[in-house]
Amino acid sequence: MKNIITGLDIGTSKICAAIGGLSDDGAPEIRGIGVSDAKGINKGFVSSLDKLVDSISKAVKAAEDKSGLKAYNVITNISGGSVAGNLCEGAVPLSRRGREITKRDIEKAFEATKQISTSLDKDFLHAVPQEYMVDDNDGVENPHGLFGTKLKAKLYVITALATHIQNIKRAVNYSGYEISEIIPTVVASLAGILSAEEKKDGVIVIDVGGGITEMAIINNGILRFFDSVNVGGMDLTAHISANLKVPFRSAEDIKRKYGNISREDSRKVQRAIFDVEGRHVTIETDQINSLIKERFEEIFYILKERLSGSDHFSPSMPLVITGGGALLNGALESFEEYFKMPVSLGRAKEIKGDPSISANPTYSAAISLAKYGIAKCNPSSSTFRPKGFLVDSYLRIKDILNDYF
Ligand SMILES: Nc1ncnc2c1ncn2[C@@H]1O[C@H](COP(=O)(O)OP(=O)(O)OP(=O)(O)O)[C@@H](O)[C@H]1O
Ligand SMILES: [Mg+2]
Repeated sequence: MKNIITGLDIGTSKICAAIGGLSDDGAPEIRGIGVSDAKGINKGFVSSLDKLVDSISKAVKAAEDKSGLKAYNVITNISGGSVAGNLCEGAVPLSRRGREITKRDIEKAFEATKQISTSLDKDFLHAVPQEYMVDDNDGVENPHGLFGTKLKAKLYVITALATHIQNIKRAVNYSGYEISEIIPTVVASLAGILSAEEKKDGVIVIDVGGGITEMAIINNGILRFFDSVNVGGMDLTAHISANLKVPFRSAEDIKRKYGNISREDSRKVQRAIFDVEGRHVTIETDQINSLIKERFEEIFYILKERLSGSDHFSPSMPLVITGGGALLNGALESFEEYFKMPVSLGRAKEIKGDPSISANPTYSAAISLAKYGIAKCNPSSSTFRPKGFLVDSYLRIKDILNDYF
């Protein structure tokens, strides 16, 4: 196996590592997955370096044991309130009579946009060109080789607090691994769970995690919008725990076993006896479901409000739901009912390996991160850089150019 890379998903509820690379026939392959309980991380922020290092080491070690491969280069994610997406514009003057636009001019327009999008306390993580303006003409797809007097670039830029990024880097480095790139989870998912056709036709991806739900809109193959909210499956569990007065762990088991959010719960179980730490508790399934619905409707409302803030949101776009929250019984039907859009389950696609692993949406982020890294490490890719390939922001600008032109 060549170009071995580890996708490391630092989640609110679990840390998940997926090790893979290019198999002998040249196809991306995942050889092993490792999972550990997430400790030392709170809504995406590092709350204890020691605990997070321990959790990361356990997950990666488990993936190494399963795969028989050794981890070194890691693509990891960053999530939480400091990660934000914005549409930014930067311009460069060319010459008063006009001249041919070079790659260097485009690079300078990106640099100008970067200056505007970041501040002293923020670093940029990911940038995607949307369109260009040459003189007064907007909607230019590729300005390279055109003549003009002024070039303006519109980029969709995702930034995070520099300290937030540094803390994630430190945790991964202290665990003994080299970070090749840090990207928002849902951006990796676009590479991992969508087909080229879906990306072209336009789709909304929602990753419902334990504590964070991320959303992205992709259209014409281009990322158009990113946002995240600090709500997820753990809020449903906490709501059940508080109302039934049972510990969080028992509430989690009850949610997974009896919870069903769809309008028609076809199962016959109306009442069940549940063992809570040696004590028998009678569970009314209707009560559980109305508790879940209450919280989920709030989540739906927030998501719809955020998504409709984007010019690229269209009520006819299909929705792809991924993350552990998608596994709640009836979750997909409820999304369909609320958003009135066709909904499907997002899981890792077009990757070799154990199908039972790629079918599980809780692993989709780690597999997507690995797949994203394998594609970038592919020697036939224009951006091939074997390790530490995105540590410097100047290289990032070059990378954006290489990725899109
Ligand atoms: N079978 C299931 N039924 C209902 N909920 C489930 C099921 N399996 C997992 N979940 C929920 O999914 C959530 C965890 O999802 P996931 O593993 O994607 O989160 P994470 O990546 O650790 O967190 P985040 O993305 O928020 O940082 C938990 O709240 C869990 O209760
Ligand atoms: Mg997650």
